[in-house]
Amino acid sequence: MKTRITEMFGIEHPIIQGGMHFVGFAEMAAAVSNAGGLGIITGLTQRTPADLANEIARCRDMTDKPFGVNLTFLPVVAAPDYPGYVKAIIDGGVKAVETAGNNPSKWLPALKEAGIKVIHKCTSVRHSLKAEAIGCDAVSVDGFECGGHPGEDDVPNFILLPRAAEELKIPFVASGGMADGRSLVAALALGAEGMNMGTRFIATKEAPVHENVKQAIVAASELDTRLVMRPLRNTERVLTNVAVERLLAKEKELGANIKFEDIMAEVAGVYPKVMTEGAMDAGAWSCGMVAGLIHDIPTCKELIDRIMKEAEEIISGRLKRFL
Ligand SMILES: Cc1cc2nc3c(=O)[nH]c(=O)nc-3n(C[C@H](O)[C@H](O)[C@H](O)COP(=O)(O)O)c2cc1C
Repeated sequence: MKTRITEMFGIEHPIIQGGMHFVGFAEMAAAVSNAGGLGIITGLTQRTPADLANEIARCRDMTDKPFGVNLTFLPVVAAPDYPGYVKAIIDGGVKAVETAGNNPSKWLPALKEAGIKVIHKCTSVRHSLKAEAIGCDAVSVDGFECGGHPGEDDVPNFILLPRAAEELKIPFVASGGMADGRSLVAALALGAEGMNMGTRFIATKEAPVHENVKQAIVAASELDTRLVMRPLRNTERVLTNVAVERLLAKEKELGANIKFEDIMAEVAGVYPKVMTEGAMDAGAWSCGMVAGLIHDIPTCKELIDRIMKEAEEIISGRLKRFL
């Protein structure tokens, strides 16, 4: 399948693996890229720019296909060493960067000069238009269904994607709730030129996370995610567990007075415990509603091949029969 996204990133299939904290290691990115998609290393999971440089080198040892790096701009006071991370990306010869969390304009000149294509993740049409205006090459339009941070507008992809198509000139991928060939065809029908998946890629053989995480996603239904940190305007969609229910009880009790310090126990330092140790109740971790559509743990190649086969069958079979 050929779209502006496959052409832009030099990939076989229009499928991207979104950056995921403590999931997007070299093993994950290489597996997706080797299967013909665009794998993404999560920059900030690497503690220092030197660690990121090493992770990029490890990924290059595992694949000769294109892969990218996610740079998430966090709403924190003490910012990570972003100039160092950007330098590691450029020096590492990476040609695709997924930015998220905040306006990436400050970093675009350096990335562009190095010939890097930038896809910015946005949860609204206005942010997507801003990304286009500042010179991003593509947008990942993240609907309300998504795992992670859906923003505060709560617009699901059935509205958000066609709205993005009405306004954007640069290509975009559909993100949030994407799982299979049906998702891809729907995304294309709504104006996207590919799709980005997070949660679906965690439940794969190569995802470098504890088996408990994969089993939890397979066991979860579409009713098992919760929105946390809404009162802090830092909404995150997570899989429910005892820590999440405790967090929500605190939010209810403290109301508008809640502060980040009140929920530190449920949200700080959670990812290594969940993803590496498999301590599933350690705290709140991102997961999409799409968990309800995830029933198995294939390899990335099996998953992507299946998606492409199903998409082609839907387009040339089921849809054609309606005409
Ligand atoms: C466990 C997990 C961790 C994530 N971490 C990040 C992150 O660090 N930076 C980022 O930009 N997006 C992050 N995301 C969001 C994904 O890149 C992607 O946009 C999202 O998962 C798409 O929704 P889906 O899960 O329904 O496919 C994360 C998602 C999950 C499930």
